[in-house]
Amino acid sequence: MTFLFNSDAARGRIFQDAFAREIPDLPFSMDPATVDPEQVRYLMTWTVPENLARYRNLEVLFSTGAGIDQFRAASVPDEVKIVRMVEEGIVRMMQEYAVLGVLSLHRNLPAYLAQQQAEVWKVLPQAQAAERRIGVLGLGNLGQAVLERLKPFGFPLSGWSRSAREIEGVRCFSGEDGLKAMVAATDVLICLLPLTDETRGFLDAELFASLPAGAGLVHVGRGPQLDQDALLAALDSGHMSGAVIDVTDPEPLPPGHPFWRHPRILLTPHIASITQPHTAARAVIDNINRLRAGLDPVGLVDRQRGY
Ligand code: GLV
Repeated sequence: MTFLFNSDAARGRIFQDAFAREIPDLPFSMDPATVDPEQVRYLMTWTVPENLARYRNLEVLFSTGAGIDQFRAASVPDEVKIVRMVEEGIVRMMQEYAVLGVLSLHRNLPAYLAQQQAEVWKVLPQAQAAERRIGVLGLGNLGQAVLERLKPFGFPLSGWSRSAREIEGVRCFSGEDGLKAMVAATDVLICLLPLTDETRGFLDAELFASLPAGAGLVHVGRGPQLDQDALLAALDSGHMSGAVIDVTDPEPLPPGHPFWRHPRILLTPHIASITQPHTAARAVIDNINRLRAGLDPVGLVDRQRGY
C-alpha cells in the first residue's frame, strides 16, 4: 500500500517528512516511474493522470487544492473517493484575500488608483461599513470562514447556498428565490462557489442587473462562472462600480484582454489562496487516519453534487 504524491518536489519533501514522522507504516513515493502501480492506494495530484487506470487498487484521489473541478470527475472510477483539500492555510489566505477585495471596493480603491494615475487629488463620497451590505455566494468552509473574518468590520452580512444553512450573525438565503432576494440587497458580492454544471456562467447579465446600482464583485470562485462580457457591460454602463477578479477563463488571461487595463477592475493571477504544504500534510495525514478508522475523510466530494 503506497501514497503517491504527484506534485512539485519541494512540496513533496515536506509531505514526505511529515508522513515519515506521523504514519511511517505508509510508504510514500513521489516517483510514478518506480512505484508499483498495484500498490498505489492513495494518489495526491492536481490533475488526473492519463494512465489513472493503471492504479487498479486506488481508493482515494486527493486534490492538491481546494477545487476538484479539474478532475472532470467522470474520468475517475465511481468507487474511488475524491477528496478536496481542506486545510488552514487555504482558509486563512482566502480570508485575507476576501478582506482585501471587500475593503478595496468599500474604500473605492479602483477609483483612487485611477485618480493617482491621472494625478487627481479628489475626495470621493464614502459609505460607512454599516451601510455596505456584503453577500457571499457559497457557504462551504471557505464561505463561512470569510464571513467570520468580515464580522468585526461591521458590514451587514448575508450568504447564499444551494441548501439552507444557519450561521450566527449572517442572513442566510438558499434556493432560486433566496438568490434573487440576497442579490437585490448586496453591495459587494463575493463568489466562492465551486465550479459545477450548475454554476458555470452563474455570474451573468441577469444577476448583475439584479444587484443594486453601484455594487461590486469579488470573484474568487472559478473563471468559467463569470460571463466576462456581462461584467464589462455592467461596469462600463456604471451600474457596477468595481470588481476584484482572481480567477479568469482562460488562465492565464490572454494579452490584450479588456480586464488587464480596465479602470474598475483589480486583477490578480489566481493567487487568492494557495495550499500551504505543512498544514496540508497535516490535513492529509488526519484524513488517512480517519479513513483507517472507517470514517469519511474531511472534504469528501459528493460525486452526484460535484463538490
Ligand atoms: C485553488 O484555486 C485551489 O483549488 O486550491
